[in-house]
Amino acid sequence: MQDKHLQYTETDYLIIGSGIAGITAALRASETGSVLLITKRTTIDSNSNYAQGGIASVMSDVDTFEDHISDTMICGADLCHESVVETIVRSGPDAIRKLMDYGVEFSKRPQNKTELDLGKEGGHSHRRIIHAGDITGHEVKKVLIQRLLERPNVTVKEYHSAVDLITSKKVGHNKENTVLGAYVLDIKNHQVITIKSKVTILASGGAGKVYLYTTNPDVATGDGIAMAYRAGARIKNLEFVQFHPTCLYHHEAKSFLISEAVRGEGAVLRLKDGSSFMEKYHPMGSLAPRDIVARAIDFEMKRTGDDCVYLDITAKSKSFIQARFPNIYTECLKFGIDMSTGYIPVVPAAHYFCGGVASDLFGRTNLKNLFVCGEVACTGLHGANRLASNSLLEALVMASNVVDVAQQIVKTEKPPLFDLPHWNTGKAVDSDETVIVSHNWDEIRRFMWNYVGIVRSNKRLERAKRRIDILKQEIDEYYWDFVITNDLIELRNIATVAELIIQFALHRKESRGLHYNIDYPESDNEWLEDSIYENGKFLEGALL
Ligand code: SIN
Repeated sequence: MQDKHLQYTETDYLIIGSGIAGITAALRASETGSVLLITKRTTIDSNSNYAQGGIASVMSDVDTFEDHISDTMICGADLCHESVVETIVRSGPDAIRKLMDYGVEFSKRPQNKTELDLGKEGGHSHRRIIHAGDITGHEVKKVLIQRLLERPNVTVKEYHSAVDLITSKKVGHNKENTVLGAYVLDIKNHQVITIKSKVTILASGGAGKVYLYTTNPDVATGDGIAMAYRAGARIKNLEFVQFHPTCLYHHEAKSFLISEAVRGEGAVLRLKDGSSFMEKYHPMGSLAPRDIVARAIDFEMKRTGDDCVYLDITAKSKSFIQARFPNIYTECLKFGIDMSTGYIPVVPAAHYFCGGVASDLFGRTNLKNLFVCGEVACTGLHGANRLASNSLLEALVMASNVVDVAQQIVKTEKPPLFDLPHWNTGKAVDSDETVIVSHNWDEIRRFMWNYVGIVRSNKRLERAKRRIDILKQEIDEYYWDFVITNDLIELRNIATVAELIIQFALHRKESRGLHYNIDYPESDNEWLEDSIYENGKFLEGALL
């Protein structure tokens, strides 16, 4: 079916992903060339659309860049790259002002409507979270999308899912391996389009769906990491998966996050009997760094046998809660929970990937003309654990940095003269057993949760490795025998990312930040370096 109407498109910038990173990059890129932005669902669908807390940046006189840098580095457990942290933190205020110029309205202080209301989250020594109520990501995206639609040289293709990057190596031009574009599935028309681009920017987000429980939406299937890896890109620090401590626990609620800002405003984590427990684990109590809180909850749930713990913000008035957390308040009420009078049941869930495609401060990867920004990238900002609300900051700053360099390529480099080969479906036929896709998907997510989750051990990781090896083989066979669909693309990608996480977790023989292995419970300075993986091997001393 899909080879009947082969399509071929050329563009200066191909941007994959419509989160805050992708759209910001598209806005900047459109100043210097034609932009084709593809996204798997609608433009609003992305992880950043669900970001509640906000954007960390130094915007008050009592705060300093030095403090934000230091908080980020402490949280990152000695794996942050100081120069990267410094640049991104210092670029924050300009990035915020740019958003305000675009028309984003951030919350103002109730006492003084001319000043930004700064929220507080775990690990921050000051109030520095710029937010739009408790739906910051959504509000920012709404405005950015409006601005994007005003740009004449931007084409947005919704329901288009990237299948694979096209590299010079794959098409038989073996000089420096260069990304020349991508094959993209037009989901509604069942066609694979060949896109040739001068520059390809992956802004495809994270991979929370690799895990059974996640705060991420369905689109977060690690497509960018998997595609980049298959194309020969270096992948970095994938063992550091952040589990958010407080996802709503309710059988009808799907992935609903209870923002850390709720604890920032004084909420306390409690057990079923009402006792608080976080003070046993960290002097900052319920507002300790996320890795510590998530592990403590995991431990308490295993110890007590309870299905969840509870978040208590009843010490605050109903009017305060409704004004500060209107979305969370309303959403909880839908499930019969009035957070102004009762506890919110919560569990940890996979939330954010600190690792990703290795990149420098301009989003450059080891593949020529392939850039990355947002959660798909690993720049060195987060180290072994991300400080809350540093991710949108990174997405904004990096999207702009990427275009600073990419525009030089667009202006000066000539694309190859040859046409890229069309996608070849070979002997693939329509699948008659889509149930296999959903079973494999469930199996991966379940064993990743059980064996490669918050607390790991060598035995659990080895077990996961055996399972993923078998499943990957099955999925690869299935992939080549049957006509591709978006479900199959996503399954193949989560299998690749799962395999990578397992490899990384087995590799690091210590516990640090988000990676906790009971067989090596301490940090070890021997391991004080990034893990970098390329074509099935860990690299020693590589730069990206
Ligand atoms: C939250 O609101 O708790 C999420 C913010 C973040 O992950 O940075």
